[in-house]
Amino acid sequence: MTELLRQYTELLNKELTKFEFGKHPRELYEPIRYIMDLGGKRMRPILALLAYKLFRDDVASILRPALAVEVFHNFTLMHDDIMDNAPLRRGQATVHEKWDNNVAILSGDTMLVKAYDLLLEVPGEKLPGIIRSFNQCAVEVCEGQQIDMNFEKLDAVTEADYIEMIRLKTAVLLGFSLELGAVLGNASVHDAQLLKSFGENIGIGFQLKDDLLDVYGDQAKFGKQVGGDIIANKKTFLLIQALRVSTGDDKRQLENWLMMKDFDTDEKVEAVKGIYDRNGIRELTDQKMNDYFRLALKQLSDLSLPDSRKQTMKDFADYLIAREN
Ligand code: IPE
Ligand code: IPE
Ligand code: MG
Ligand code: MG
Ligand code: MG
Repeated sequence: MTELLRQYTELLNKELTKFEFGKHPRELYEPIRYIMDLGGKRMRPILALLAYKLFRDDVASILRPALAVEVFHNFTLMHDDIMDNAPLRRGQATVHEKWDNNVAILSGDTMLVKAYDLLLEVPGEKLPGIIRSFNQCAVEVCEGQQIDMNFEKLDAVTEADYIEMIRLKTAVLLGFSLELGAVLGNASVHDAQLLKSFGENIGIGFQLKDDLLDVYGDQAKFGKQVGGDIIANKKTFLLIQALRVSTGDDKRQLENWLMMKDFDTDEKVEAVKGIYDRNGIRELTDQKMNDYFRLALKQLSDLSLPDSRKQTMKDFADYLIAREN
């Protein structure tokens, strides 16, 4: 990360510490503080600040609306971890593991409301348009999450189906974060839409990388259970490609693991990973991810601003491509 990006992270974290979610009952609010304090990359509000910074300099004036997307994101993680039966988040126990499912549901609901509170602080004349875009994005995230779960039980998921699912569950929120920053920075409609589309393409690349790290990441750095997607039969890009290119024994074994109800989780993860290794799945995923990042960077270069103004956004995209967490 560059110095400026570190500075943005610190600004956002400071503002977040000041934000009062609430106190009583503590079972409702402690999990919110817990997940927010676990850190994370803060990538979505950083994208909002970077988009704003393309057009205006006083980024400190939009910290609270930028944090709305981070609070919303953490709400989706709290609920996603229930749906995915995930034990670990950012290297620590997930909220539903540390407390229970009901706590995670209700604290998550409260976070969604708090996200709106933060968003309400945008200038009045911009509020209806911003809420409309945010609502569309939020409902698309839910659509993507439902499709993701539907796919766990489906055999035939195409690459196109998968890309649309991750566009919804992950990419649209990156798109909205950039659009938010651009709109607050008084960008033209054309530039705001271009940045939104840039964000969606970065977001698709980002989710492909997340799928890759779920198999090949270092759990200590990744902070999530490595192999979780394999255990849950998630139709990730890796699995879809493995089903497409494998033949003979590998194909039979893979289909067998997908059908098995009782299994040793470590054994399944090792076996499926072996099939991925033998079939060049990691490389295929890397290529697809790079295609989307390249497309995004091309859009950034099309933005009618001097290159010097775009450099930090480019640095941030490079950091996301190289990330290990
Ligand atoms: C995790 O998002 C959920 C996905 C969309 C893959 P991040 O990787 O941005 O998680 P944090 O906020 O940095 O922990
Ligand atoms: C999550 O996708 C997307 C949302 C939270 C909306 P994943 O289920 O892959 O995210 P992680 O890996 O748990 O962070
Ligand atoms: Mg999920
Ligand atoms: Mg998950
Ligand atoms: Mg994941």
